[in-house]
Amino acid sequence: MATVATANEEALEAWNGVLFERFVQFRHVLVAGLAAHGRQAMQLHPPSTGDRVLDIGCGFGDTSQELAALVGPTGSVLGVDVAPRFVATARSEAALARVGNVRFEVLDVQVAEFDETFDYAFSRFGTMFFANPVPALRNVRRALAPGGRLCVVVWRRKLDNPWLHRAELVVKPLIEAPEETNEPRCGPGPFSMADADTTSQILLSAGFTDVEFRRCDIPYRIGADLDEAVAMNMALGPAAEAIRLAGAAAEPLKPQLAALLRDTLAEFETDDGIVANSSTWFVSARGSDH
Ligand SMILES: C[S@@+](CC[C@H](N)C(=O)[O-])C[C@H]1O[C@@H](n2cnc3c(N)ncnc32)[C@H](O)[C@@H]1O
Repeated sequence: MATVATANEEALEAWNGVLFERFVQFRHVLVAGLAAHGRQAMQLHPPSTGDRVLDIGCGFGDTSQELAALVGPTGSVLGVDVAPRFVATARSEAALARVGNVRFEVLDVQVAEFDETFDYAFSRFGTMFFANPVPALRNVRRALAPGGRLCVVVWRRKLDNPWLHRAELVVKPLIEAPEETNEPRCGPGPFSMADADTTSQILLSAGFTDVEFRRCDIPYRIGADLDEAVAMNMALGPAAEAIRLAGAAAEPLKPQLAALLRDTLAEFETDDGIVANSSTWFVSARGSDH
């Protein structure tokens, strides 16, 4: 078992348990939306042919496979994730797809000591859950070769991701956040890098230079219909986390919450399902020249 920072043990339990299961259940909706942002980020900041790439918080490893195709057979990709169940899935899917230049490792980036060097580090929504992002990103920076580059995709503010924000506004007044909960929290959370000042300071403190932000807005199809969009918002995202952390207290409220979410999300109904804006930062930076 890989070493995990004590401060990340609870997040590991969440990512390797309930969140892994929910990601599997909603993967067809969820990852399609995330992938649109990831692909645009890779187009804007592509790795070079032959690069050695690190994919941080790689989840199912679909980005690792895409990066492997971009760097070609002379390059290589290491996908890392703290959750063994994600890594096991990533490994078996890459093997099935016969992608030869990708490997995966279970690893907490915050305490990782990489014994290899990378030219390019990428992450699609995988850097917002470290208890201590500065040491985590410092580890990444140290593993970069001189002149190596970082590109991470992170959520922008909730207001510009209205399907998540509205759902949270509907749910939270009805759910009391418990002081004690048996449910593991997922770490600082998906919006912890939404503020550009905070995030640039984290990267500068980790030793990166030339930090740049590019805003990206893309319509996100959060469900084929309202049933799916409601189910997704009750499983993943800030509204879902409020419900999950409330535990048994939330159970009797679920039908009411589902009805309220249905009304709210109806605003985003289109001929092509439930579609709302999604908004991210592509954050790029340069590792120091050592
Ligand atoms: C929102 S998911 C994104 C997964 C994938 N990159 C994607 O876009 O589908 C966040 C991922 O970060 C991983 N993660 C969380 N904390 C981590 C840590 N300390 N070290 C490595 N991975 C971590 C989780 O296990 C999870 O797979």
